Amino acid sequence: MSNQKIQIFDTTLRDGEQVPGCKLNTREKVEVAKRLEALGVDVIEAGFPISSPGDFESVVEISKVVKNATVCGLSRAVEKDIITAAQSLEQAVRPRIHTGIGTSESHIKFKLNSTPEKIIERAIAAVALAKKYVEDVEFYAEDAGRTDNEFLARVCEHAIQAGATVLNIPDTTGYCLPDEYGAKIRFLKENVKGIHKVILSTHCHNDLGMATANSIAGVINGATQIECTINGIGERAGNTALEEVVMVLRQHPYLNKTTGVDTKQLNAISRYVSDTMRVPVQPNKAIVGANAFAHSSGIHQDGVIKNRETYEIIDPKEVGVDHSSIILTARSGRAALAYRMKNIGYELTRDELDVVYKSFLEVADAKKEVQDDDLHEIASLRHKVAV
Ligand code: KIV
Ligand code: ZN
Repeated sequence: MSNQKIQIFDTTLRDGEQVPGCKLNTREKVEVAKRLEALGVDVIEAGFPISSPGDFESVVEISKVVKNATVCGLSRAVEKDIITAAQSLEQAVRPRIHTGIGTSESHIKFKLNSTPEKIIERAIAAVALAKKYVEDVEFYAEDAGRTDNEFLARVCEHAIQAGATVLNIPDTTGYCLPDEYGAKIRFLKENVKGIHKVILSTHCHNDLGMATANSIAGVINGATQIECTINGIGERAGNTALEEVVMVLRQHPYLNKTTGVDTKQLNAISRYVSDTMRVPVQPNKAIVGANAFAHSSGIHQDGVIKNRETYEIIDPKEVGVDHSSIILTARSGRAALAYRMKNIGYELTRDELDVVYKSFLEVADAKKEVQDDDLHEIASLRHKVAV
């Protein structure tokens, strides 16, 4: 059976950019969009055009330069939002309007001061209006994660009838457990008339650290698009991290899913987005963190030196990292010291290694991490062995 292609919908420039203090100008956004296209994402959500003239301009400029990916603009289920989104996308080769409304009890009651029936009417009107401007219309049911499944199914069915080509099921508050989110997607697959005609999309937030697991559960249960951001940036605890879902699908071939992402570009684009948005990547971040391929304990170092696969499930080259690192600390053993010494030009005999290892531990206790400069100094002591 050939692998099913999962569409990667990147929202770094919209949901990701909602991180406080990391607003980009148009030039920077265009550059990020070009890199996302080169990375191989299928959809770039370029902004929320009604939100500011700057966002509008960015969507216009991105629409001009992106040729292969779909360019998407967000709107609420509000006439002027939808018309503005349509205007900003006029020059896109593949334009998509993303429109929608809150569907959970709490959103309907407190945020929208409305009723379930009126929400359905607004959903239908929004999709129908967007459809007048573009063929490709994505409908989002905001807070779908906390929406009753029967009601969610009704809203989705109406959105399809009104012309939606993609249904987005956001876990807006990052509330769901993977089983629960997967079951929601399956329920929609099994109970919404016409669902086979549309793309079903996951959009998960990370408030409980479940965004990646929930997105994968969604895909296992029938979703064929994942919405995500580089480095998982986004509102509050962030969105699903693009690099994580792409690598999960790649590392588990029995899932029979693939993406169009060139994984060798992941490290570079992660750094670029982090630098441009000034949002540091935590060192232990999966796939792209500084420590993702660094080994510090003696036991692990010994294993990795013998065979990388003992403690690494991903070849770092696959994500654009040159090599794994052996970090020398007081927990490192002789194997790691000999390995790093060899890398900088010292082939040590067993006796020499015994001698320098003692000095190494003294330096390591004093300095936490031993660098190449220290190693050169330590190596100069190796001749003491001959005495
Ligand atoms: O999290 C969410 O519900 C969203 C929608 C606006 C798509 O970002
Ligand atoms: Zn979101």
